[in-house]
Amino acid sequence: MAEAHDRPPEQFTLRMRRYDPESGEAPYWDEHTIELEPHRSVLEGILQARDRFDGSIGIRCSCRQAICGSCGIRVNGEPSLACHTHLDAAKAGAKDGVIEIEPMGNMPVLKDLIVDMDAVHWKKIQRVTPWLLAKQPVPEREYIVDKDAMVDVTQSMACIQCGACVSDCLAMEVDPGFIGPAALAKSYRFVGDPRDDQQFERLNDLAQDPQGIFDCTHCFKCVDACPKGVNPMGQIMRLRRSATNDHHIVDQNNGERHEAAFTTLIKDNGLLWEAELLPRSYGGNSWFGKFAPPAGKELLSSLPAILKALVRGKVTPMGALKPHKIPKADLKSVQAIYDKIESREERYELNLYIAGEDEAPASPGDPVAAGVTHEPGGHEGSPSGSEPQDTPVETREQTEG
Ligand code: SF4
Ligand code: SF4
Ligand code: FES
Repeated sequence: MAEAHDRPPEQFTLRMRRYDPESGEAPYWDEHTIELEPHRSVLEGILQARDRFDGSIGIRCSCRQAICGSCGIRVNGEPSLACHTHLDAAKAGAKDGVIEIEPMGNMPVLKDLIVDMDAVHWKKIQRVTPWLLAKQPVPEREYIVDKDAMVDVTQSMACIQCGACVSDCLAMEVDPGFIGPAALAKSYRFVGDPRDDQQFERLNDLAQDPQGIFDCTHCFKCVDACPKGVNPMGQIMRLRRSATNDHHIVDQNNGERHEAAFTTLIKDNGLLWEAELLPRSYGGNSWFGKFAPPAGKELLSSLPAILKALVRGKVTPMGALKPHKIPKADLKSVQAIYDKIESREERYELNLYIAGEDEAPASPGDPVAAGVTHEPGGHEGSPSGSEPQDTPVETREQTEG
């Protein structure tokens, strides 16, 4: 069988979304058939269409090797880097064999496939103070940082600012003011850096902002969209854990209280007791929470939604009064997970971006070999609390955006 690079040129049809806001015309679809080797990129296909058929096609690109983040578009509805998407793969994923190309979402279109990154993406990046606020006094020579500490932030450093996660963020679609996945991942890059002096201030700011870390709905869209494995949602969860567990920030959005109520209800009952969640999130994490004035106020304002849920059978009066029951053995198993996690002296953070290797064969429980980093409160000094190890760390990419 011929290697992918040896295959002769083939024809590919590109269906492109065209729009020029200055023209006053509505957006429309435009089709061009180009001819290229199948392993070539969608970007090369678009550039060929522009050269051969229509010089007015708008596309932004620069490095053509998945480094600069300029060529973010949607290919068959999925956010992608045009230069990092092969034509044959794109054709295989197309509904009718025609590769559908659109601009990214959640950002205004400037022209055709070019979106206004300044208006959304860069504005949000600026919002999170994207630079190190160094501890004083700064050392006269290099600031030597423990290797383990940097492992913790390597994943967020790999962002190339392409905006693919922003394009697909569901929370941003509903609330355009949400700080968003890319900016929050960037924020973790500094919150997790032991040289930064403003970790509490950064976290407090992001926790208290109604459009901050607690506005994310855990939809995983940014995780799937990211071409660099940054896992923005994972970074947001790290920010939350650091804000609540390490800095004990009680926020005005009830994020910390909601999290505490959620975990307590599952620990006590094995399953979520939905009817208790809201009053506890607002009134305090106990059965008496519902009698606190903030809980009463919130219950009152949620009455239409509660009534609708009752009418639709999503909630039953008994279900509201009593928690769901699971077999005792199952409940014990759930509680055993809590006991195990809570008995750990340090929190483990999974960092799937890092493939750590110990020189000696790793024992099954070795968190470093499993791509796990330790996180004590505040990320001060060595995250593992141990001496720096001679653990070679491989990263797929080490590009700081
Ligand atoms: S997980 Fe959160 S940040 Fe990521 S796309 Fe979904 S809502 Fe947005
Ligand atoms: S987090 Fe990933 S998808 Fe989002 S801007 Fe950075 S590289 Fe692009
Ligand atoms: S052109 Fe640079 S990432 Fe595609």
